[in-house]
Amino acid sequence: MISNEVLNQFVNQLQGKKSRIMVVGLGYIGLPLAECIAKAGFNVIGYDTNLNKIELLNRGESYLETMSASRIQELLKTGRLSFTADIACAESCDVYWVCVPTPLLNGAPILDSFYSAIKSIRAIAKKPFLVVVSSTSFPGTTRSIGLSILVKEAQEEGHDFFLVFSPEREDPGNTKFTTKTLPRVFGALNMQSAKVAMVLFKQLFDEVHQASSIETAEASKLMENVYRAVNIALANEWGEICAQLNLDVWEIIKLASTKPFGFQAFYPGPGVGGHCIPVDPYYLLSKLKSIGSNAELINLACDLNRKRPHI
Ligand SMILES: NC(=O)c1ccc[n+]([C@@H]2O[C@H](COP(=O)([O-])OP(=O)(O)OC[C@H]3O[C@@H](n4cnc5c(N)ncnc54)[C@H](O)[C@@H]3O)[C@@H](O)[C@H]2O)c1
Repeated sequence: MISNEVLNQFVNQLQGKKSRIMVVGLGYIGLPLAECIAKAGFNVIGYDTNLNKIELLNRGESYLETMSASRIQELLKTGRLSFTADIACAESCDVYWVCVPTPLLNGAPILDSFYSAIKSIRAIAKKPFLVVVSSTSFPGTTRSIGLSILVKEAQEEGHDFFLVFSPEREDPGNTKFTTKTLPRVFGALNMQSAKVAMVLFKQLFDEVHQASSIETAEASKLMENVYRAVNIALANEWGEICAQLNLDVWEIIKLASTKPFGFQAFYPGPGVGGHCIPVDPYYLLSKLKSIGSNAELINLACDLNRKRPHI
């Protein structure tokens, strides 16, 4: 337990934007997040294990089509954002924001990057610090893996920390929303973690929603993407139904969309793509499998989506 005095000091530092924040993993999620935090007036270190990416960033170049080189150059000019592949730079940070990949291999979650990111943070972090996990995973990951690594070594070294999970909703390439304007959800380990996270997030994001637990926040992210996966499968099925009935699926969707409530349009297409929809439902299914359960509808939607495109 962190004393009230230390908690208040931590909060004051955040409020005064004196806290140093490390974003761990500079991909589609981490890089715009680092930009958002730096623009809010904090000093940010972007850390990535990929040295090539760090060299490009330090030269003011980009490897993401969704992040222009000029945006990176602007940030470098402010002096509030630096990039490194050297985790030793983490020692001076107060907040560690985990944005490492959580992919699949043969349909199973691969959490190697998550393990190694948390272990690196734990090995180097000093004084009270906040860990924000934004990598998508199944409910229980932040507590069962993240916390257990942090606690184990924290006890050995006598460190204290705050821990929250805050899902990423970034839609790379979508110019309607930015990291700042997208409503932010988070779930915290305890009241102290919730307090510091709220103080930080309110300075970064226009709208913040606190979940009742870390697991609830983790599950909300999966629900968003499972919802899309299931509806994409349904839209594709409607495409096939209409072809068989010699009806125009587009006209039908257009007409159904005139209903002002209870219907959201999804359209037939080649199937699911991107980083999340083809992956996230399997994280949920793997969790269910681990407790001897299943979700028939989600499984079926995944099977249908996997079979596309078919001619
Ligand atoms: N891309 C999206 O649209 C999107 C949307 C919402 C959520 N997410 C989730 O956000 C997380 C990150 O996704 P992304 O698309 O940014 O991934 P990405 O592959 O684009 O980037 C991840 C970065 O992390 C780095 N990395 C890997 N292991 C590391 C480690 N141990 N320490 C430091 N850096 C490390 C990689 O080199 C890479 O640059 C994933 O969990 C993903 O599911 C992604």
